[in-house]
Amino acid sequence: MAIKLADWLDERIGWRDVWKTIFLRNVPKVNWFYTLGSATLFLALNQAVTGILLTVYYVPTPDHAYDSVQFITTQVTAGWLIRGLHHWGASAMVVVVVLHMLRVIFYGAYKFPREITWMTGVILLLVVIGFGFTGYLLPWDQKAFWATTVGTRIAGTPPLIGDYLLRILRGGTDLSAVTLARFYGAHIWALPATLALLIIGHLYLVIKIGISAVPKKGE
Ligand code: HEM
Repeated sequence: MAIKLADWLDERIGWRDVWKTIFLRNVPKVNWFYTLGSATLFLALNQAVTGILLTVYYVPTPDHAYDSVQFITTQVTAGWLIRGLHHWGASAMVVVVVLHMLRVIFYGAYKFPREITWMTGVILLLVVIGFGFTGYLLPWDQKAFWATTVGTRIAGTPPLIGDYLLRILRGGTDLSAVTLARFYGAHIWALPATLALLIIGHLYLVIKIGISAVPKKGE
């Protein structure tokens, strides 16, 4: 029955070719360091699923943000688990993506013909940092408020554009409801959309070009 259905679908949408291209492609003999990209992908999916679940109860206003996070942690069924997975997953993602980048650097995998894979990776790293920066404010507790006060002040230090940057980030001169709404918007819409598009491009190139082999001595 299942095989018949699979054949029926394959005749119509050709899913077996897609499956073969993604999962049955030839790869050189590699080692465990090559799993770091997939580990990052797994963590990104974890962030997406737990993040979507958190939006069910989180309220991005100064009056309710803190209480809604407390409610999620203490009252909602498995809320502590979902929040914990999102919180620790965020830190793990930063660590693992940096390790993945280090593997690419040490193995020279950024060289021809993978320059564009590298460039999409650099923007991915910035997006991951952007997630951390915007997400940190959302619990709206003292730590969040003052960390973002300091972080946005740092963004305000460059000459000429500093003041402008600070106002854009804060949505005014001080941290306010506008800042929270802005950070929330970036955290759940702009950054995820950018991340998804970049990951699709990154993986398209990984599959199209094929991954690099472990470099030999002197290479
Ligand atoms: C959300 C972030 C990222 C995801 C999900 C991701 C995912 C992947 C995956 C699955 C691969 C296949 C090979 C492997 O796993 O090592 C890969 C390869 C690669 N990644 Fe990433 N990556 C990310 C960020 C980055 C960053 C920050 C850089 C560098 C700045 C980068 C540069 C590369 C390069 C150059 C390759 C090709 C490596 C080769 O052919 O040996 N990636 N990436």
